[in-house]
Amino acid sequence: MSFELRLGVNVDHVATIRNARGGGHPDPVRAAQLAAAAGADSIVAHLREDRRHISDDDLARLMETIDIPLTLEMAATDEMLKIALRHAPHAVCIVPERREERTTEGGLDVALGHNHLKRFVDQLTGNKAIVSMFVEPDRRQMDAARSIGAPAVEIHVGAYCDALTGGTEAQAAEQIERIVDAAGYGAGLGLQIHAGHGITFDTVGPVAAVPEIVELNIGHFLIGEAIFGGLDSSIRHMRALMDTARARSQSEAGA
Ligand code: PXP
Repeated sequence: MSFELRLGVNVDHVATIRNARGGGHPDPVRAAQLAAAAGADSIVAHLREDRRHISDDDLARLMETIDIPLTLEMAATDEMLKIALRHAPHAVCIVPERREERTTEGGLDVALGHNHLKRFVDQLTGNKAIVSMFVEPDRRQMDAARSIGAPAVEIHVGAYCDALTGGTEAQAAEQIERIVDAAGYGAGLGLQIHAGHGITFDTVGPVAAVPEIVELNIGHFLIGEAIFGGLDSSIRHMRALMDTARARSQSEAGA
């Protein structure tokens, strides 16, 4: 089993703060450069249909400026497909999107949207992007992602994070078990397994310990925590927690 566990830092909410006032400060591109210096392996940005945080100009500047890979999160719409094909980011994560939601509240139903989504996977992988589907920890979604030729999935871990912080121990245990099961099953199908949504210093350990997960994408908490200790410190601390949890799970597995 590989030790690799990459950290993708989502800079959307730097743009949220900027947009609260208009103007250019704080700049998500500057945050992306700082994140790279602090040990991020990639930068993540979600260009939403309503442009509520990242703008088209941010995306263009991120593509031009950063020298680590960029993951573009996008809804499966023709407008976004055109943009993704034009910029050719390293990776694209297809997410469900509803205007009225505050954030991405659940995973895509790849099984239901099979025919619609396959076209996106074909065109984006043809453009050399690593395409992932943002899905719930569910074997059916792993099968569906595999069947449309997606090379990767990102498991939505929000239900686990919510259960750990606001639910019972049994609920958290049940949710992490779903993640462990889906990650093992998906990796067995040959999918690259990523995870994200709602991860904090308190919730990262058990997710980072899942050996099949090779990438965590984290945004809101890191940007929020940066208010108190700086972005560099919040990323370095997250990275250390991830690496410690993964090293411990590997040594337990080998023991
Ligand atoms: N991964 C995906 C696919 C997302 O849509 C998001 C944002 O909702 C994240 C990761 C990051 O989640 P958070 O901001 O809660 O860390």
